[in-house]
Amino acid sequence: MILPARRALTGAVLAGLLLLVGTACGTGGVAEGGNAGQGRKIFQGKGRCGSCHTLADAASKGQIGPNLDDAFAADKDDGFKESAIQNVVLAQIRFPTKGSGMPANLVRGSDAEDVAAYVAKCAASTDKTACPGTAAGGGGGGKGLYASLGCQSCHSLDGSASTGPTFKGLFGSKVKLTSGQTVTADDAYLLESILDPDKTIVAGYEPGVMTSVIQKNQVSEADAKKLVQFIKGQK
Ligand code: HEC
Ligand code: HEC
Repeated sequence: MILPARRALTGAVLAGLLLLVGTACGTGGVAEGGNAGQGRKIFQGKGRCGSCHTLADAASKGQIGPNLDDAFAADKDDGFKESAIQNVVLAQIRFPTKGSGMPANLVRGSDAEDVAAYVAKCAASTDKTACPGTAAGGGGGGKGLYASLGCQSCHSLDGSASTGPTFKGLFGSKVKLTSGQTVTADDAYLLESILDPDKTIVAGYEPGVMTSVIQKNQVSEADAKKLVQFIKGQK
């Protein structure tokens, strides 16, 4: 599945969205401020955002819309400012894709600004002070699983060396294996690396290291697929 946010924050689209928000008549201008703490409560309200969206900090597990941690993880890594993400969320609240199932203007005015501020601050966040729910991890999304299953102790997201290869730039790259083969790190390869870690071994690494923590088929296929999506976002 290609999540809309993957496309959303490329510079051009972002600029377009900002323009859209800026010029939208009657519904308010570009977000300034917004109370994230208040936004969290609104996000979690009955029939609100959390009923359709997974967000680890909010402990919401909705499956109808995209997982918002995964949706904004890559954008945060790419250094997009919170205020820019806030405006994207605000635009989404006002102008969701027609027919997608996300109702427009579910929240309005300062409530909308508060929710947008909250999502911008706490989606894909590791800030346990501002986003206290983050520490609990989970939410069922790839980012939560990366933390809760312990992948983060061996795989970095910033390219730095660790016990295992970094996830940064992994998707689509050429991986040399101890068998002498070179494979492309596509969906199938990543899925297999998680479901059956010792089946192929990356050149320069030892078998049995990952399986000391993650045994064959320990991770469910559904969770493995979420992890693959998460890894794909680490560009
Ligand atoms: C009834 C289900 C539903 C509710 C309630 C809902 N959404 Fe959504 N949301 C969706 C669907 C479906 C999509 C994907 C379609 C689209 O991009 O418009 C989506 C997309 C999004 C996106 C874009 C994610 C991406 O990957 O680009 C954001 C951000 C978002 N919603 C935020 C919110 C917020 C904030 C609220 C609460 C005010 C909310 N949603 C309420 C169903 C919902
Ligand atoms: C104890 C350390 C350790 C843990 C925990 C761990 N891994 Fe690994 N992982 C490794 C090592 C070492 C390799 C390289 C050897 C190999 O190919 O198995 C590896 C390889 C991989 C690869 C292939 C990487 C490449 O460059 O081709 C993927 C994908 C992967 N791990 C995903 C995960 C996921 C997802 C988790 C959490 C569910 C996880 N790993 C947990 C150590 C670990």
